[in-house]
Amino acid sequence: MNKIKTAVFPVAGLGTRFLPATKAAPKEMLPVVDKPLIQYAVEEAYAAGIRHMVFVTGRNKRAIEDHFDTAYELENELEQAGKQALLDIVRSVQPEDMLCSYVRQPRALGLGHAVMCAEHLTEAAPFAVLLADDLMMGPPGGQHVLAQMADVFHRLGRSVLAVQEVPHAQVRRYGIVAGSPAGDRLLQIERIVEKPSPEAAPSRLAVAGRYILTPAVFEQIRQQPRGAGGEIQLTDGIAGLLKHEAAYAYTYLGKRFDCGSKEGFLEATVELAMAHPEVGVSFREYLKSLKV
Ligand code: UTP
Repeated sequence: MNKIKTAVFPVAGLGTRFLPATKAAPKEMLPVVDKPLIQYAVEEAYAAGIRHMVFVTGRNKRAIEDHFDTAYELENELEQAGKQALLDIVRSVQPEDMLCSYVRQPRALGLGHAVMCAEHLTEAAPFAVLLADDLMMGPPGGQHVLAQMADVFHRLGRSVLAVQEVPHAQVRRYGIVAGSPAGDRLLQIERIVEKPSPEAAPSRLAVAGRYILTPAVFEQIRQQPRGAGGEIQLTDGIAGLLKHEAAYAYTYLGKRFDCGSKEGFLEATVELAMAHPEVGVSFREYLKSLKV
């Protein structure tokens, strides 16, 4: 089975839930402790063996491009000052064997449309999609979520979606899947619906922001009309794909923080700060001192 070579990062959403922070900067550049959200996602893709990162950007693209580019002046200053540890941190953002491409989504017409904008860079091969505002942590000492999914993909050769159970009242925020058992933590998907009402939802299994997709999905996205919220939905493209080939839902090991929402973002900040090698111990002390 082919290796997955390309990861697509749709970063052209408006991020309205984080205004005014996202007025001039993409929400994927919001930092959790000391790294922007997009860097966590890129590191996850890199750890899954992917080396070509494709960013689908919108109006505020500069910050992301600059982040993954060489910061010549900064590196020079740090080098002159002999600050090797900081220099290593700066350089580690862009490993030498990693290629970054940028493509513009002219209007935020939906996630399906954003993924379509990257079609010509995916070499007609299976590819990953990572939504950086879902910050995923693998289990302690275990594999990242995308690496777990890549293992499933290499076994089955078909599209794999990361899923988790959500409370019934929250199904309308997600793509929801239902299917039949197909192995450990796996379902073969029979239905997938975008943002159903709790009454209409076929299950409580929600798609988290990680996908491995076969290229056949592009044709399906192209053919479909606009879906929920008037947007061109990736979920509807995957629903179309099911008529032609199998796709699987994988209940990942680990934890997801919905950093597209303020609460999820704050939770991620607290938990990652508590685990941070530099500030973790003192931050825990600080939390204990709070009267909450
Ligand atoms: P969201 O549904 O979270 O939308 O998109 P959003 O616009 O970013 O945020 P809010 O709801 O206004 O606060 C999910 C992911 O899909 C990308 C977003 O950047 C985000 O990573 N996206 C969405 C696009 O790239 N283009 C689109 O047209 C829509």
